[in-house]
Amino acid sequence: MRMYDLIKKKRDGGVLTDEEIKFFVDGFVKGEIPDYQVAALLMAIYFEKLNSDETLALTLAIRDSGDTLDLSDIKGIKVDKHSTGGVGDKTTLVIAPILAACGLKVAKMSGRGLGHTGGTIDKLEAIKGFKTNISREQFIKVVNEVGVAVVGQSGDLTPADKKIYALRDVTATVDDISLIVSSIMGKKLATDSDCLLLDVKVGSGAFMKSYADAEKLARVMVAIGNAAGKKTAAMITDMDSPLGNAVGNSIEVVEAINTLKGEGPRDLDALCRALSVQLLKMSGMVFVEAEEKVNDAISNGKALMKLKEMVSAQGGDASFIDDVSLFPSAKYSLDVLSDREGEFYGIDAEQVGLASITLGAGRVKKEDSIDHAAGIYFHKKNGKINVGERICTLYSDNQSSLSAAESIIKNAIRYSGEDRPLIWKVIE
Ligand code: URA
Repeated sequence: MRMYDLIKKKRDGGVLTDEEIKFFVDGFVKGEIPDYQVAALLMAIYFEKLNSDETLALTLAIRDSGDTLDLSDIKGIKVDKHSTGGVGDKTTLVIAPILAACGLKVAKMSGRGLGHTGGTIDKLEAIKGFKTNISREQFIKVVNEVGVAVVGQSGDLTPADKKIYALRDVTATVDDISLIVSSIMGKKLATDSDCLLLDVKVGSGAFMKSYADAEKLARVMVAIGNAAGKKTAAMITDMDSPLGNAVGNSIEVVEAINTLKGEGPRDLDALCRALSVQLLKMSGMVFVEAEEKVNDAISNGKALMKLKEMVSAQGGDASFIDDVSLFPSAKYSLDVLSDREGEFYGIDAEQVGLASITLGAGRVKKEDSIDHAAGIYFHKKNGKINVGERICTLYSDNQSSLSAAESIIKNAIRYSGEDRPLIWKVIE
């Protein structure tokens, strides 16, 4: 088999076989096929597309390109959730403890933030001592004993995705649905949870800006997950404005704690309950029972207790959960006030993400360090607004970043528009 022939075949609109796809993925990982040939094939794929069989073959080749995470030593039903990324998205910190309190097992591998979107691992590291790189044995033990553990990616999981993604990033081939699906699902299928719920975001802060694209992505991911033998569903949810009121790291963990106490912002609370109910349903429960269990886990404090237990078991200082004043706080803050009077239709989530990077809460390059205390707290995200009314407060250790972030936020406010649903569609 020659890479040249595969490039030519796809360039001319042909369909690649499973063997051909495996050949290029394995050859690229082993260093036998050069970047320039894979880049050419990616561009041919971008224009000529992959059909569903090719997308499945690419997903499985990515899954099988390195280690897989064997969770068979975990007793019980293992559930997983994946968000396609957003701003203020701290749902994992809320739903993972809720699901553990409802008797499911959550062995979660999460990522760090990159670009305008945040990452669960960075948020958890705002808790003093919390370890996100525990051994596999420790990870399994915590999940068996507590019901939930959240760690960063370890081992040599899906090396093909790392190499292909890096090439897509510099060849303008990131935004192809089949390539996105194979990248996300290749990683998700490399861990053997029983059920997977995909939270596919739509709007300015999401990969998919239009509903039509988000639905297409969700449908293909659900089809690929189920074809690969994992019970998979998707919820298409809004990411046109940030989720909840807090954007940052410490500040988001505090908001997640409040939500576990039943005192969270309305959108975050509703989304976390809906995602949890959906995963309980996927694990075999009927809707009414699932809803009751989730509501009980929040109102009787068991879900919050699970978060505390997980923090302790992963080496973190659990007193942070009882006393949120222990979280790092920023040296400087600035209130952003409205210059206008009128109706307020949310804030461009992508711009908010960029403002939070400016403040130090996110990173542009993988190697950048982050400031856990930096962030943005919104006092208002929609409704009537008056001149001089406080929209949000910015936090940073870098005083000069405040005015730059302020001007990004002021330009990101929508003074016209329409109300959008929080949950657009569930695809089962
Ligand atoms: N997230 C991923 O992991 N891969 C993509 O291709 C896009 C988003």
